[in-house]
Formats: sequence, structure tokens, C-alpha cells
Amino acid sequence: MQTVDQDGRKPGHHWKEADRVHEYVAQNDQNAEPMAEVFDLLTMLLPFAADAPLQVLDVGSGHGVLAAAVLDTFPNATAIGLDIAEAMMEIGRQRMARFGARFRYHGGDFADGTLPADLPGPFDLVVSSRAIHHLPPEGKRRLFADIYRHTMDGGCFFDIDNMRPNDDFLRARYRQVPDPTVPARLQARSQGQPGGGAREHQEPVADQLAYLREAGFAHVDCLWKRLGRALIAGFK
Ligand SMILES: C[S@@+](CC[C@H](N)C(=O)[O-])C[C@H]1O[C@@H](n2cnc3c(N)ncnc32)[C@H](O)[C@@H]1O
Repeated sequence: MQTVDQDGRKPGHHWKEADRVHEYVAQNDQNAEPMAEVFDLLTMLLPFAADAPLQVLDVGSGHGVLAAAVLDTFPNATAIGLDIAEAMMEIGRQRMARFGARFRYHGGDFADGTLPADLPGPFDLVVSSRAIHHLPPEGKRRLFADIYRHTMDGGCFFDIDNMRPNDDFLRARYRQVPDPTVPARLQARSQGQPGGGAREHQEPVADQLAYLREAGFAHVDCLWKRLGRALIAGFK
């Protein structure tokens, strides 16, 4: 398995750069609505009662946007945000303070395709948004299997991420359409590269659904897709 990027860092570790984090958060604040709609869809698809005391894990939580959508929908839920970027967690601690003890960060790394050994669990729900694409295919397969192990029976895993088209013909068609869920500058950068850039591994949806089945999830589907971004899920 590839363990370092071309610049010698472990997958996703470029997010430790504070400037990159501040640029990302500013862009997302300007363009939050399209992703908020996908987060709403995710929460509507969950197989839990509205008052369930869910234990939730957000993998690559960043400043906490997806965990916040889940906690707003399930008032008795508690979430852990797993992340490695101190600057992200600093912003997130301020923005997530309104949830009090219902949200906390767990500083830790999933670059080798496993969740940190000291992570509590299991979880009713594992979610991730725009984070797992840093892992190469073998890393994703390992991570999906480890997430399965950390998911309770009756629980589920939802992943919103960048997933490339099946071939260059389709890639050219995708490029004809602006993607509202991706800031324009990043879209241009991502679409110019096969697979979305040097630090991204964007296997197509069909491959990633196969990883979920391989991990052991019983009910697997792509529940939303627009161009190079998709929401996939596995139910245990
Ligand atoms: C593009 S941001 C997405 C943040 C948030 N989930 C969102 O949708 O806005 C990717 C996040 O994944 C985290 N991340 C990437 N690789 C990681 C790794 N190997 N271990 C832990 N966190 C990682 C980064 O620090 C960053 O906060």
C-alpha cells in the first residue's frame, strides 16, 4: 500500500498546513448550501428514531460541518470528530461549542487505513465528508473494513466524497458542467488531473461500493451523486 504522497507526507497530512485550512474553511463558508442539502439527505436516510442516544464518529471531521448536521437532527446524539489537523480542530472547537459535551475531537490518524487504536467505540453511525479520498484504494479497503468493525449491529456508515467518472469520455462530459458543491477554483484544479490531483485517489462509485460489500456491510448503495461527488452508504 502507498504510505506517502509524492511530497513524502502520509495521506491527508497536507491538512496540517494552517493556511490551507483557513482557505478551505473560508471557501466552504461562502458556498455551504449545496453540501448542506446533501447532509440533510444523509440525516433523512438514517434508520434511527429522532430521540435515539446515538454514538457517532465523523472521520476527517475538519471544522465539524457534517457532525453538526447529525447532532442538530438527533438531539440526544453524541459525536467524536476524528482529525489530524490542529488548525481545523481549533476552528471546529469554536463552532461546535454550542453542542457542549455532545461533541469532542479525537486527534488521530487514519493514513494507514486503520482507525486509531485508542478511539472509543463501537458507534451507531460513522460518517465522513470529503476526507477518505486521500487514501489509495488499498487504504480505503482497509479503512472501510475497520469502520465496519467499529460499527454496531444495526448501525451504518455514510461517506460523501470525490469519486471520479468511469472513463475519459465521461470525464469530458463532467467538465461541461459547473459543480455547485465544489468551489470553482478547486474544481478546475481537480478536473485537470486524472483522479483529481496528486493527493487524491478518487475511485469510481462502483469500486467504492464494492469495498463496502467486501468490508461486510449488508445493504450498500449510492444514495446521491452529482458529477464527481457521491454519497455512498453501507448498513450493518
Ligand atoms: C477536505 S477536509 C473535510 C473536512 C470536513 N469533513 C468537511 O466536509 O468540510 C479533510 C479533513 O480530513 C482530515 N484528514 C485527512 N487525512 C487525515 C488522516 N490521515 N487522519 C486524520 N484526519 C485526516 C483533514 O485534516 C481535514 O480536516
